Amino acid sequence: MRKWEILLAPYNQAVDELKVKLRGVREQYLKSSKHTPIEFVTGRVKPISSIIDKASRKNIPLDRLEQELQDIAGVRIITQFVEDIETVVELIRNRKDFEVVEEINYISEKKPSGYRSYHMILKYPVQTIDGEKNVLVELQIRTMAMNFWATIEHSLRYKYRGEIPQDILMKLQRSSEVAFLLDEEMSIIREEVREAQQIVTAKEEQGRKL
Ligand code: GTP
Ligand code: MG
Repeated sequence: MRKWEILLAPYNQAVDELKVKLRGVREQYLKSSKHTPIEFVTGRVKPISSIIDKASRKNIPLDRLEQELQDIAGVRIITQFVEDIETVVELIRNRKDFEVVEEINYISEKKPSGYRSYHMILKYPVQTIDGEKNVLVELQIRTMAMNFWATIEHSLRYKYRGEIPQDILMKLQRSSEVAFLLDEEMSIIREEVREAQQIVTAKEEQGRKL
């Protein structure tokens, strides 16, 4: 038990720090009255039982966990619009406090299940009393619609222990399509809002000139 605590401590630290930092980014956007690409941030360290399950499922020896299990630490950024995801990805790529070691785009290429999300694997340096320790963190970036779908699908997969009945799988496929359409519709609304704002700004400019 103690061994697990020692192993997981830097992962807990990394998740806590990233949550603070990314929520800080949101605050900065709000203060500057710009549209924030970050709606909310969550994070978790994988429970020990899930780590053991996954390691045995993937044939990962327990002494290789830190190198081969990329999602012991997980952080999630939820956005309103699909377009915000690109903004967040750029923001993450440009940060100096960690390194991006892998990017997986499950949006341009959704998973067969219907899952959509943008994943980035980060190498995050944690300062410990024994010096710096790098840990891998899986960052998932997705819209609220993508998150809604993934949360529901995850619960069902848990309920049926991975063996989701065919009819429910089909319903999930359909709802994934609907979530995609919702994201598209929201993008259109977003454009409308932006155009409206541009018109207002233009009018204000004109007003100043008169
Ligand atoms: P997992 O064993 O699912 O972690 O696969 P992986 O380690 O090979 O990586 P992958 O990129 O497929 O998945 C990483 C994480 O993305 C998972 O732990 C989930 O949080 C999420 N994810 C991937 N696929 C799905 C899916 O079909 N449904 C849901 N709900 N989440 C998914
Ligand atoms: Mg994974």
